[in-house]
Amino acid sequence: MLRMELKAQRSLSRDAGAQVSKLVFSYFRWLGWLDRGSPVRERINHAWDLAERFAAQPESFTDAELLARAVPDWLATVMEPSADWVRALQGEPRLWLRAHRGQGRVVAENLGDCHIRGAGLLADTLEYVGRSDLFRTGAFHEGAFELQDVNSQAVGFICNPRPGEKWWDACAGEGGKTLHLADLMENQGLLWASDRTPWRLTKLKRRAARARVFNYRATPWDGGPRLPTKTQFDGVLVDAPCSGIGTWQRNPHARWTITAQDVKELSEVQTRLLVNAAVGVKPGGRLVYAACTLARSETAGVVAAFEERCPQFTREPVCDPLTSGAAPCDLLYLWPQETGGNGMCVAVWRRTAG
Ligand SMILES: C[S@@+](CC[C@H](N)C(=O)[O-])C[C@H]1O[C@@H](n2cnc3c(N)ncnc32)[C@H](O)[C@@H]1O
Repeated sequence: MLRMELKAQRSLSRDAGAQVSKLVFSYFRWLGWLDRGSPVRERINHAWDLAERFAAQPESFTDAELLARAVPDWLATVMEPSADWVRALQGEPRLWLRAHRGQGRVVAENLGDCHIRGAGLLADTLEYVGRSDLFRTGAFHEGAFELQDVNSQAVGFICNPRPGEKWWDACAGEGGKTLHLADLMENQGLLWASDRTPWRLTKLKRRAARARVFNYRATPWDGGPRLPTKTQFDGVLVDAPCSGIGTWQRNPHARWTITAQDVKELSEVQTRLLVNAAVGVKPGGRLVYAACTLARSETAGVVAAFEERCPQFTREPVCDPLTSGAAPCDLLYLWPQETGGNGMCVAVWRRTAG
């Protein structure tokens, strides 16, 4: 929304636009410190001062102060916010790219200002620390990379689809994870991508064309029991709509618009989507639940509700693919303070009975 608004202001230079974005984000990041009765200009200046002070002297803010002001009071009723997490929320988010399979080094050299996240799978995960508008680069238009959060990339690695398999990305949205799954499948096999919002699928198709992804079918699905196909899949990913608490560093305004009631309602939607999508998993196939939230009811609560209704699925241990040697766990939480990406939760099951 902000990006569209800035684009419409044709007289604004790119640097001025970037400055406006920074001011808007710091306003919402530091809203809990601002005097709502003071003129808006004063509040913006105050927020900016706080952001600068935090960048220079983070220890000048106490844990207690951050926990009390950086997040809404109701949050403590849905999760246990830690001081480390709240500190991460107050910093600037990092910008992550996913290069086309095997192209990490080439893309990093082409763009400059990139750090490669690691070896193996992570050789195509790049952190961009430069200031160029990546949407205007030739490499972007050639489909050499996508902007994708590092923890979203982790979800694709956990799905780990093999070339030739059949996968369904049930809540595909604009296709961030669909494109990653297609890349991991080396464009072989079949990928269904569905969403209930048609304009998102239109964007997905545009992105797939740019990334030269062709082994997919995009189709609407409203999340109900009538599935878009009778195909039985090797794997189904439900990257469910959620409260987005995990994205509060990147989207600070969402801290002040989401409510505890939304969290409750969303956990019911997530369970319904998971139960319905599970019907598409073939015997022996895998079901992956991902959500960029850290609220109990949307994470462990959904997992428990699903298992009660679908005992034919057995939970599989998940390892954090971003941390070498990470111990397997039943339900994986990825935290911004640990990975530098959006907070995320992932669970995996296998259909062990008909
Ligand atoms: C977290 S987003 C998906 C992001 C996407 N997978 C990506 O990586 O770019 C959740 C998606 O679920 C879709 N959604 C919301 N309610 C739904 C429903 N009842 N049935 C199907 N999709 C739904 C939303 O339109 C949204 O695109």
